[in-house]
Amino acid sequence: MTAMYEKLSMPAEGLRLHLNENTGGCSQAVLDALGALTREMAAVYPDYTDATAATATLLGVPPSYVVLVNGLDEGIFAAALATLRGPSPSPLESVIVVPAFDMYAGSSRKAGGKVVEVPLAPGFAFGADDVVAAVTAATRIVFLTTPHNPTGLLIPRASVLSIAGAAPQALIFVDEAYIDFGGETLIEQSLLDRYPNLVVGRTFSKAYGLAALRAGALVATPATLGRIRECVPPYSINIAAALAVPAAMRDTTHYDWYLNEVRESKRLLYAALDRLGLTYLRSEANFVFAHFGDAAEDVVTGLKARGIYVRDRSGDPLCTGYVRITTGVVIHTQACIAAVEEVLCGGR
Ligand SMILES: Cc1ncc(COP(=O)(O)O)c(C=O)c1O
Repeated sequence: MTAMYEKLSMPAEGLRLHLNENTGGCSQAVLDALGALTREMAAVYPDYTDATAATATLLGVPPSYVVLVNGLDEGIFAAALATLRGPSPSPLESVIVVPAFDMYAGSSRKAGGKVVEVPLAPGFAFGADDVVAAVTAATRIVFLTTPHNPTGLLIPRASVLSIAGAAPQALIFVDEAYIDFGGETLIEQSLLDRYPNLVVGRTFSKAYGLAALRAGALVATPATLGRIRECVPPYSINIAAALAVPAAMRDTTHYDWYLNEVRESKRLLYAALDRLGLTYLRSEANFVFAHFGDAAEDVVTGLKARGIYVRDRSGDPLCTGYVRITTGVVIHTQACIAAVEEVLCGGR
C-alpha cells in the first residue's frame, strides 16, 4: 500500500474514466451562480454559512451536524489528524479495509498513526468480524467506504453499526463518496446521536460534478465534529465552491439525468463484459470493477493508445487482473466498450 495518495497523470485530452469523475460536467446552474461572483466578493475571506445550511437541509440534519471541507480528501486528512496525532507512548492505530482509497493510509501515516490493514474476504465480501478483530485499545479511527472503492459493493448498515458499537474508543469514518449512485445513507440525526463515534463523509465531486471546485462535507454530532473542526482551516471552502454547492443541489433535473446515465452505462458495460465472457462486480457506484485477468495490462494500454484512460488496480491487494472503469455519460461508456472490444477481439 502506498504511503501517499498517488496523483495519477492528468491527460488534458481524451476520455478520463480512471478517477470516477463526473463525465457529464456540472449543472449549467453552477456556471450561472459563478457568474454572480463580483470583484468585491473575490477580495474577502469567504462566508459559507449558506452552503453549509443548504447541505444540512439536503442531508436532513441541523447545520451544527455539518462541516464543509475542501473536498472529502481534506475531511479524511482532518479526521486522521484529529484522532491519530500524539502525544502517546506508542503510535495510535488506523484500521483500513483493503483494497482501499489511498487517502486513508497516506493521511493516517502523515498524522503519525500506524496503519492496520484488514483485507476483504474472497469475492471482495466485507467482513465486519474481521474489522472488529483488528481493533485494539490503540485504534482511534476505522475507515469504511460504502459503496466501496474500488469494488462498488455496499457495506451493510448492520455491519457498520456493529463495528461502531465494538470500538467506542475509535471514530468510525464512513466514506459515502458514491452514495448518490446507490445504497442507503447513514446520515440520520437520531442514528448519529445514538452512535456519537460515527462520522459520515460526503463529496460534491462525483454526482454533482464539482471535483475541480473542491467541496465535501463531514456529518456527525456537534461534539464529535468539534474535535475534527480543530483540524480544518477556518476558510477551507473558497467562494466559488460556496456559490456552486447550493446551485448544484437546486438543479435536481441535471442530478437525476446524470444518475440515469450512470445506471444505463453500467447496464451496457455489464452486457458487453458478459458478451466477452469476463467477470465483474455489480456496482452501486459510478464505476465498474472488471476482471480482465492476464489481458488487464493490454486493455489499459490499448485504451490509452485510443485516448481512453481507465485504472488498472492490479497492484492492490486481491486485485490482480482487475480494472476499474468509470461509468458516466452513456456515449462515453459506449466509446469505451467499443475500444475494449477492439483491443480484445481485434475490431469485432
Ligand atoms: C472513496 C473516496 N473518498 C473520497 C474521495 C475524494 O473526494 P473529493 O473529491 O471530495 O476530495 C474519493 C475520490 O475519488 C473517493 O473515491
